Amino acid sequence: MLEGEKINLKNASKDDVSLVMQWWTDPQYMGEYQDIMSLSKEELEKVMLENTIFFIIEKKNGTKIGHIGSWMLGRTMEIGFALVPNERRKGYGAEAIRLIVDYLFLTKDIVRIQVSTDTENVASQKALEKAGFSKEGTMRKA
Ligand SMILES: CC(C)(COP(=O)(O)OP(=O)(O)OC[C@H]1O[C@@H](n2cnc3c(N)ncnc32)[C@H](O)[C@@H]1OP(=O)(O)O)[C@@H](O)C(=O)NCCC(=O)NCCS
Repeated sequence: MLEGEKINLKNASKDDVSLVMQWWTDPQYMGEYQDIMSLSKEELEKVMLENTIFFIIEKKNGTKIGHIGSWMLGRTMEIGFALVPNERRKGYGAEAIRLIVDYLFLTKDIVRIQVSTDTENVASQKALEKAGFSKEGTMRKA
């Protein structure tokens, strides 16, 4: 468990797979800039428990409000995240990003953490900037 000020990041367990399945197939949760996922429950379980570092974002009272995860690309790690719509714009996203970045730099032999966002995904870009990221460029036609 990674403890923050307003939220904690809890390591995902098998018990969280159904909830994440519900979230990842919900267009409201994924937001207007990400596709919904079409994974089987078995594939999702593998993603969450074997292939990535995967945390559930929890409020201090234990309510599960989103996910944040990370995967390796050489000595770079990429991260991805989302929150349920009614818990957005309360500072939780930026805090979750800060927590996972500290965790990754302290525990992995990496030189870089990166995120790709849609050019119009202002919420994601602002949360990333607030957590210390800086924009490097635009991948045209990506
Ligand atoms: C991206 C996301 C996780 C951001 O989390 P959040 O908790 O809402 O963001 P925060 O409350 O930490 O806000 C961080 C900053 O971004 C700003 N911000 C957040 N949402 C915004 C929006 N829709 N428009 C403009 N600014 C926004 C906040 O005002 C804050 O800046 P400030 O402190 O200067 O006021 C959330 O919007 C989300 O779940 N989106 C859908 C999924 C998604 O797009 N994931 C990212 C894929 S790359």
